[in-house]
Amino acid sequence: MNETILVTGGAGFIGSNFICHWLEKVPSDIVNLDKLTYAGNAGNLRSLQSDSRYVFVKGDICDAALVRSILDKYKPTSIVHLAAETHVDRSICTPAEFIRTNVYGTFILLEEARNYWGDLDDSEKALFRFLHVSTDEVYGSLGPQESAFTEMTPYRPNSPYAASKAGSDHLARSYYHTYGLPVIITNCSNNYGPFQFPEKLIPLTILNALSGQPLPVYGDGQNVRDWLYVEDHCDALRRTLERGKPGQTYNIGGSSERKNIDVVKTTCDLIDELRPNTTLGSCWKQVKYVKDRPGHDRRYAIDSSKILQELGWQPKEPFEMGMRKTVKWYLSNMNWVAEIRSGEYYEWIRQNYGGR
Ligand code: NAD
Ligand code: DAU
Repeated sequence: MNETILVTGGAGFIGSNFICHWLEKVPSDIVNLDKLTYAGNAGNLRSLQSDSRYVFVKGDICDAALVRSILDKYKPTSIVHLAAETHVDRSICTPAEFIRTNVYGTFILLEEARNYWGDLDDSEKALFRFLHVSTDEVYGSLGPQESAFTEMTPYRPNSPYAASKAGSDHLARSYYHTYGLPVIITNCSNNYGPFQFPEKLIPLTILNALSGQPLPVYGDGQNVRDWLYVEDHCDALRRTLERGKPGQTYNIGGSSERKNIDVVKTTCDLIDELRPNTTLGSCWKQVKYVKDRPGHDRRYAIDSSKILQELGWQPKEPFEMGMRKTVKWYLSNMNWVAEIRSGEYYEWIRQNYGGR
């Protein structure tokens, strides 16, 4: 059987990196279903424009008839579900879209997948996987001395985004237990790398640093995230799809805990080195402590020992190397930045940070 993967949200940050990674490693076809919200950009996959293995469908995962028609037409051997609203700050301002896409959209996808899978023959059924890509934020916040999240850590989501992802995880889990749909769930820590939309900490810092604007640091800057280079996440997702067990959850982390202020410092040091500003001096001077995010989780850390032991995956890219690659990528892709900075992007920046 020819392998065809249906990827949802493939025009976003992780999705576009995943599609390129997958097509480089695996002889198969990919159908990418993406609504192209402000965070999605079909141009991320311009390199695949004339690649016959790649098909793009613009559409919404909440549209059951569309999802059904894609399943019937392309007969995917697996689904990798990444489509989501993903920005915590936006979920605090406008939670409704997070519930719609992340909870209801995941439900529609699961329901259509269940019907489609039910009609496959036994050998196709056995091979089929529904990989639900989720986040470490479902586990809530850790104290400074607490052990990292394992797959057994109870769910304690603290933002509407995290709650909507937790809801989608529970639905995905229930489709395995109730209907036998071969669902696998991954919970990953903070990604960074090429094609990340500049509302998230690292690309926002890079671009504001370059344009001489304030570098907003929430609260005291001491919140900790566990950073993973996006290519390592894509590698983990591929291994999980190829070798993970249905009904299982795998945590994926970078083993790179950093305080936010240290991430900003690393970014500034790289920009000072790679694109020094002889007029303004170090961009470190642009750091501005701003009002904290409501309900801001203090610390995330992931214990990835299960995926290491069972699937042989571990992160390869050290944080400092990954950051160097990331800063260089943004410096070389300022036309991509100009393209994705739409009116809506500027409106968000204006509302949240003032000015432009
Ligand atoms: P992103 O915001 O960059 O991209 C999301 C993509 O989903 C966009 O292309 C958008 O157009 C699409 N989309 C949104 N709503 C849709 C809908 N209703 N129908 C179809 N497409 C829709 O997100 P990302 O950072 O690439 O995250 C991808 C997935 O990985 C998400 O499920 C997220 O929760 C998860 N995740 C992200 C991180 C991270 O650090 N970025 C970490 C762990 C898990
Ligand atoms: O942990 C995985 C999650 O990581 C993903 O599930 C989310 O989709 C992804 O957006 C990310 O969530 P965070 O809230 O951790 O990412 P963000 O880049 O928004 O913020 C990282 C940290 O930096 C967080 O503690 C808030 C802080 N921050 C963020 C921004 C945008 C600032 O201090 N200043 C900023 O301007």
